[in-house]
Amino acid sequence: MNLRIKSLDALLAMDETKKLTKQLGALDLMFLGIGGIVGTGIFVLTGVAASTYSGPALIISFLMCGFACSLAALTYAELASMVPVAGSAYTYTYATMGEALAWIMGWNLVLEYAVSAAAVASGWSGYFSGIFKTIGYPLPDALTKVPQDGGLINLPAVVIALFVTYMLYVGIKDSARLNNILVVVKLAALTLFLVLATPEVDAANWTPFMPYGFSGVASGAAIVFFAFFGFDAVSTAAEETRDPKRDLPIGIIGSLVVCTVLYMAVGIVLTGVVSYTELNNPEPVAYALRHIGYNFGSALVAVGALAGMTTVLIVFIFGQTRIFFVMARDGLLPDVLCKLHPKYRTPHVVTWMTGIGVALVGGFVNLGVIAELANIGTMFAFILVSAGVMILRRKRPEMKRPFTCPAVWVVGPLAILSIGFLMFSLPQATWIRFVVWTAIGVVVYLAYGRSRSPLAKPSYSLPK
Ligand code: ALA
Repeated sequence: MNLRIKSLDALLAMDETKKLTKQLGALDLMFLGIGGIVGTGIFVLTGVAASTYSGPALIISFLMCGFACSLAALTYAELASMVPVAGSAYTYTYATMGEALAWIMGWNLVLEYAVSAAAVASGWSGYFSGIFKTIGYPLPDALTKVPQDGGLINLPAVVIALFVTYMLYVGIKDSARLNNILVVVKLAALTLFLVLATPEVDAANWTPFMPYGFSGVASGAAIVFFAFFGFDAVSTAAEETRDPKRDLPIGIIGSLVVCTVLYMAVGIVLTGVVSYTELNNPEPVAYALRHIGYNFGSALVAVGALAGMTTVLIVFIFGQTRIFFVMARDGLLPDVLCKLHPKYRTPHVVTWMTGIGVALVGGFVNLGVIAELANIGTMFAFILVSAGVMILRRKRPEMKRPFTCPAVWVVGPLAILSIGFLMFSLPQATWIRFVVWTAIGVVVYLAYGRSRSPLAKPSYSLPK
């Protein structure tokens, strides 16, 4: 079978006029990673997971995700440093497993990036509306709820998505600067929560520790997985990084370690100050602080959560545009999507297309099940990347690996097994949606991408 694998050398020797500007450093990348990781997952979904699945054993769910994601992060870091071109898991798959799987990967990354971004825009709107409610000026339902929930349009979700898109349109450096400021704000908010709430912990809240048994803890982990991904978005910025070989591994692994430690602390304290049964609400972290009498602190944390979700939006809309951009550059999507703006040097067409898509979904669709759909797409991507790193070790052993995944023959299979376990802990309905989405992707590829890819032209010689 002809797998149509794009050679790494071809990937690395791109047409100069279609290259993005290199302007990001290691710290920018670490902030980009934390920007993508800490958001709706920790601020909203931890509450659902603790009350419905994990109980106080939320910390075990976090540990499971942290373990699985660290393994995946190690494989990501090796590939990202070897193939420092934009496109992330899509590009790695193209180089290792061929065009058809790469297309499916790119198609599923839409679940991770654009769909998550739309969910985050909705979550942002919820917190935004919550603040207005708290100060006594509630916003009208018609403008803050989607039609399915009795409103007309979720306007704050539309506005924030378009605002972030505009920032990305005028240039990544400014967006990175805004991102860095907002990351500091959200880390400060979580730290404030820990400082205020830790002295109030009542150990009695930790029993029963596993009210829904181990299967509950596993299902909880499959949900809070949403809180962990985002570190991989760092690799989508590879092409815009000044020293990708050094900076990418620092950015990816550093951001994941910082977040895992922080989440564990928040998980212990959160389930220690309130009973897990009370955590199923849209703002569990702020709720916990109000519960112990810190109203002002709770408001500050809510503002931090808003900042947190904004950074996730920046990272995810950015990541999605870069993946579409590279797919278009590869001929799998229309060429107009990889046009760069003459002044800003950003891929403006694809940026607006993505941003408007995210705004529309966030503005008009109820996204209750979206987190799980995003999770399954992301888990699939992580599994393919872990397989890809092992395939490349075999196929291209001579290639320089600026970052080498330690014990890859242990780490790779363990990453696949642990992520696979989380994937199978997701509900059946999510699996069905995932299969349908993938099937649509296959049809689109066969009808469009396959015949237009440069690899379909007879003049292109396939690498050995
Ligand atoms: N990890 C990101 C979040 O929790 C997707 O919002």
